[in-house]
Amino acid sequence: MSLKEAATTVRENAHAPYSGFKVGAAIRAASGAVYVGCNVENVAYPEGTCAEAGAIAAMVAAGETSVIEAYVVAGSPTPVTPCGGCRQKLAEFATSDMRVTMATLTGIEQVMTMGDLLPGVFNADHMST
Ligand code: THU
Repeated sequence: MSLKEAATTVRENAHAPYSGFKVGAAIRAASGAVYVGCNVENVAYPEGTCAEAGAIAAMVAAGETSVIEAYVVAGSPTPVTPCGGCRQKLAEFATSDMRVTMATLTGIEQVMTMGDLLPGVFNADHMST
């Protein structure tokens, strides 16, 4: 299944009764396996989680720690971009040249690299003494 298909399908399961904004994410890990996630909102608003976070959690739970490609889709007028927190979450498991495809439901796609999305990323090197 393509990342586009996987992200679009899982988006249907998003729990977004408060924003009404459903998001689907699909990531391909180093093994080739695809992991998916959707946003899961909560009545206590800050407890909600993003689609990307769900996909990353599924990948890590399956024993993988390397993302080689990501796809995010929403019913937005322009391609949905990962929020700041999700950029940092993706960067934890990606190289700066990893491609992130952002898409609308109508098929408009925009591709950026991880480094484009999060220049100056905080990483483990900063904690070297
Ligand atoms: N959302 C995501 O799931 N991923 C993003 O990258 C952007 C925002 C969700 C969070 C919230 O449930 C809804 O979209 C509106 O912000």
